[in-house]
Amino acid sequence: MKGIILAGGSGTRLRPLTGTLSKQILPVYDKPMIYYPLSVLMLAGIRDILIISSRSHTAMFRSLLGGGERLGLSIGYAEQEEPNGIAESFLIGADHIGSDQVALILGDNVFHGPGFSSVLQENVGQLDGCTLFGYPVTSPERYGVGEVDQSGRLLSLEEKPQRPRSNLAVTGLYLYDSDVVNIAKNLTPSARGELEITDVNRAYLEQGRARMVELGRGFAWLDMGTHESLLQAGQYVQVLEQRQGERIACVEEVALRMGFISPEECRRLGREMAGSGYGAYLTEVAHRHEASSAA
Ligand code: DAU
Repeated sequence: MKGIILAGGSGTRLRPLTGTLSKQILPVYDKPMIYYPLSVLMLAGIRDILIISSRSHTAMFRSLLGGGERLGLSIGYAEQEEPNGIAESFLIGADHIGSDQVALILGDNVFHGPGFSSVLQENVGQLDGCTLFGYPVTSPERYGVGEVDQSGRLLSLEEKPQRPRSNLAVTGLYLYDSDVVNIAKNLTPSARGELEITDVNRAYLEQGRARMVELGRGFAWLDMGTHESLLQAGQYVQVLEQRQGERIACVEEVALRMGFISPEECRRLGREMAGSGYGAYLTEVAHRHEASSAA
């Protein structure tokens, strides 16, 4: 399965922070925002990833992540000239997807919770059509909203409905088979002139090939469009990391756990960041990994 991180948009609500910086490179406590969605794709076992951003920001992501080799990944870059809709990702990324399946994740989404990597890998393994991830929220009218039956089959889907039929928001992580490219090619732009992701999902729903997995209690899904939500996400990460001593979305640690890099490579990445707590953590993680493999 291929991966796409959509990291475009103009970040209007986060100005002046986003005057020169991309929203998805802003710090969420101790690391750039894009590490969070990147770690999700990696936990799903995905190593071939396309980052889509606006023209003026591509160089920033490239200098941060390069070709991905240091994490045992292959990372490519593409530009979205204007924010023409989330579903434009499949047109921009058509060559990258080819005849493969694809996971799309929005660059401003944080997912964190117990057993998430198993949930991801299971759903990647069983994908037939499209799989969405639903999350109960108090204000569903701000999101795509889905209704599911007991088996997880999607029954209805609406974008920002005035009267939501459920409290399940559709989160910014989507798994698709390769049909998604043709579906996106046949979309008509919405009233706001965008290629809507909800229209893609509705096409699968109409074919009876859409599922939604519920991420329940004890799970955290946060999206960061405003100063408040950006700060809240940072606070969430800070509280858990400080309490447990484990870092969330530490991409080097994920690469090590997934077997994409060796403990020695992880240790080298740690040395490059010597003098920071993050660097020391990488050294510790490499050491722990070796000790547990030897046990
Ligand atoms: O966050 C989940 C929600 O994301 C879903 O529940 C909705 O169904 C889905 O439509 C989307 O709603 P948003 O209102 O959050 O979409 P927004 O236009 O804010 O875009 C989400 C992110 O994607 C944002 O960081 C900017 C980026 N983006 C958006 C568009 C439209 C792009 O990079 N390019 C685009 O063309």
